[in-house]
Amino acid sequence: MPDKQYVWMDGEFVDFSKANVHVLTHSLQYGSGIFEGIRAYETGKGAAIFRLKEHAKRFVNSARIVGMDLGISQKDLEEAILSTVRKNGLMGCYIRPFAFYNDANIGLSTIGKRVSVAVVAVPFGNYFANKEKGISCKVSSWQRINSSVLPPEAKASGNYSNSILASVEAKRAGFDEAILLSQSGYVAEGPGENIFLVEDGKLVTPSKEADILIGITRDSVIKISESMGLEVEERMVHREELYACDEAFFTGTAAELTPITSIDLRKVGNGKPGPLTKMLSDKISMVVQGKDREYAQWLTYV
Ligand SMILES: Cc1ncc(COP(=O)(O)O)c(C=O)c1O
Repeated sequence: MPDKQYVWMDGEFVDFSKANVHVLTHSLQYGSGIFEGIRAYETGKGAAIFRLKEHAKRFVNSARIVGMDLGISQKDLEEAILSTVRKNGLMGCYIRPFAFYNDANIGLSTIGKRVSVAVVAVPFGNYFANKEKGISCKVSSWQRINSSVLPPEAKASGNYSNSILASVEAKRAGFDEAILLSQSGYVAEGPGENIFLVEDGKLVTPSKEADILIGITRDSVIKISESMGLEVEERMVHREELYACDEAFFTGTAAELTPITSIDLRKVGNGKPGPLTKMLSDKISMVVQGKDREYAQWLTYV
């Protein structure tokens, strides 16, 4: 990695330490930004970005949902992401594209306010320290947002007030992470992760009606599982299923595939990462490292 790190900001590279904004910036005050979370992995052919197009598309769609004019195309964004990883000489890293109202005017309205787009890439390891042995979860007292309050399908900064409340509540209570239920009491997702359960050899995951962010890792796990002949049910999931399932795991760009070994102080299965969870975790790690030809199209080499 070179000595200096750079941030891509509105078409130019600026020093990492100079990629700053005014304290009154609209998106800092009101959470009016949108963002993405993407990973690049070290492969035999250098760094490769996992599902770049899908992440760039979700970024553009998040902007459309909140009514933000990005001023750049999906293609421009993909180029900006690739050039940021390249410029910083990174291999495995986390990439954070961020679009925000770069305007220090106090008014709430975003109309006429300047939009800035930044791309930051930083070295990143496991999101959960005890990822390998599995994590403990607590069903949150906070409900997952729904489309009549905030847009769950957009990766909008403001949505994460909900995620942060749930996550911090769980951590303060001694758990590793929260699980949020939807307004109607069905299982939704983690604060920054989708959830899968294993029941009688089948994979079960909440459908979009449960107000989830439609995760790209979730989609990858569904496609990989189906291609391996596993049955996957996308449907509404009762809270009871969290307590009676055989295995459970989170998926996400940061979390990758993280086993859940207890929920509300009850063991999931025998309290250890289950066989299907381990098999899928190994499989996805081969895929992201470019060691599985079937999914070569999911990697964009830097
Ligand atoms: C609320 C929420 N759900 C699910 C996910 C998982 O999505 P992905 O697999 O696309 O990272 C994330 C992370 O992006 C998230 O923030």
